[in-house]
Amino acid sequence: MREQRKVTDSYWLRTAPGPAHPALDGDLDVDVAVVGAGIAGLSTAHELARAGQRVAVLEAGRAAGGVTGYTTAKLTAQHTLIYDRLRRTRGPEGARLYARSQTEAIEHAAALVAALDIECEWETRDAYTYVRDRSRVAEVRAEAKAAREAGLPAGFTAETGLPFPVAGAVRVTGQAQFHPVKYLRALTADLLAHGGRVYEQTRVTGLTEGEPCRLRTEAGATVTARDVVVATHYPVFDRALLFARLSPRRELVVAGPLGDGADPGAMYITPDENTRSVRTAPYGEDGQRLLVVTGEHFTPGTGDPRAGFDRLAGWAEVHFPGVTLDQAWATQDNESTDTVPLVGPFHPGARHTYVATGFGGWGLSGGIMAGLLLTALITGRDCAWRELYDPRRLKSVVREAPSLLKTQAEVARHFVGDRLKPAATVDELAPGDGALVRSGGERVAVHRDADGVLHAVSARCTHLGCLVSFNRAEGAWECPCHGSRFAVDGTVLQGPAVRPLERRELG
Ligand SMILES: Cc1cc2nc3c(=O)[nH]c(=O)nc-3n(C[C@H](O)[C@H](O)[C@H](O)COP(=O)(O)OP(=O)(O)OC[C@H]3O[C@@H](n4cnc5c(N)ncnc54)[C@H](O)[C@@H]3O)c2cc1C
Ligand code: FES
Repeated sequence: MREQRKVTDSYWLRTAPGPAHPALDGDLDVDVAVVGAGIAGLSTAHELARAGQRVAVLEAGRAAGGVTGYTTAKLTAQHTLIYDRLRRTRGPEGARLYARSQTEAIEHAAALVAALDIECEWETRDAYTYVRDRSRVAEVRAEAKAAREAGLPAGFTAETGLPFPVAGAVRVTGQAQFHPVKYLRALTADLLAHGGRVYEQTRVTGLTEGEPCRLRTEAGATVTARDVVVATHYPVFDRALLFARLSPRRELVVAGPLGDGADPGAMYITPDENTRSVRTAPYGEDGQRLLVVTGEHFTPGTGDPRAGFDRLAGWAEVHFPGVTLDQAWATQDNESTDTVPLVGPFHPGARHTYVATGFGGWGLSGGIMAGLLLTALITGRDCAWRELYDPRRLKSVVREAPSLLKTQAEVARHFVGDRLKPAATVDELAPGDGALVRSGGERVAVHRDADGVLHAVSARCTHLGCLVSFNRAEGAWECPCHGSRFAVDGTVLQGPAVRPLERRELG
């Protein structure tokens, strides 16, 4: 293994720091409270404020600092190989509505960028899904046909501009890529200009539905709102067993400047090799390009990603000779069991609560689409793709049954199986490492920092009680059941958990 790769904040977050927003320090009353300031929450809040609603966004950390701040940032209606599957599972009309909704979201973002004069490195690019394995060419041909029938400017080709041959690819022309954090900083400024409010460091810990709805924050404030949108990535409140229909998938990213003239000129993804997704971005003053490569997905809490980082970096260096990879980061997205996002009323009885989740690796166009769809629902307008994304969809739940059972079997396996694994001892822990040890009759999650100091917290995830596991590359505790993540002192880094891991004294 190479020297340990330093995992950093993403390039997007480092190059668009943005102003801090205040924490909520008193009670508040608004028309709509949006929980979570990622692309889904901010897009929704922005649309609602422009529609004249009094809106507040409540964000546990920093705006755009969740998954959205760590992505590859392609804006495309080409979602790997989705259209052939959608045609079969949701019919030709479902595939057409999906393509239209994602395309309209991208066009809407392009219009905002032009109207608000947003400097977010917006670039129009073709998008390719390619395979190198000849045995998969038929799959790609079927996708090209399905995407075209769904209304996208799609076709089959073997010419991609990549510096290596492919067996076949679907090309969708006229898609886009951008700097997601610069885009959201500008959207947030416009939201504030329309009377919206954004509160950072304001974690929501409770929701009581009613007329009005009430939210409670970790600091004890109450927010009353006619409508509530839960846009926390993995929903932090579950009123419709959405937990059973979502699986988290963590993925690694490496990046660095490319050599001159090495930009392949488009956006690329392949389902081969545990996914490889490629784009470039403007970098520095001299027309240089930054290569961003994503891949090596895994369930959070189930392994040490250091070897995955090495494989991804090795792949990038072989396929893009001359690249200097100097950045690495990671993030995760949730996949719904039928691979279509869940955007709409939170549960069958919901009258004033909404959710946006399950973007399956495509939540940038998906998050903008969610903003438009939820604004239509909240302001009483209809939307052609309301049913496609409705979290209450029942027909597809029946079709989803096998993957739903698989997801639940995995959770049960972790809940029971992880408790049977042998515990480590504190003496075995090297600096930088973490493991579960037995102490005081329970499993305790212990991390030894670089100075040799031990940090001990409960190993029981505060969401539903699965045992956490240490991600050494990123120095965090992760839960394999629904993807909650915690810092070594137990602080919540990512939901669905809303409470920290309790501190423990080692006995
Ligand atoms: C490696 C990788 C690459 C990707 N690349 C692309 C791409 O190229 N194109 C694309 O379309 N999609 C891509 N995606 C998917 C996309 O990034 C996500 O689907 C999208 O960013 C999700 O946005 P979000 O608003 O739902 O979540 P987030 O951005 O995570 O926002 C949720 C916010 O809620 C906050 N929050 C959580 N709990 C609470 C609480 N209790 N109280 C208050 N706030 C809370 C969080 O702090 C966070 O800021 C990628 C995903 C991965 C993993
Ligand atoms: S995230 Fe659900 S039990 Fe940990």
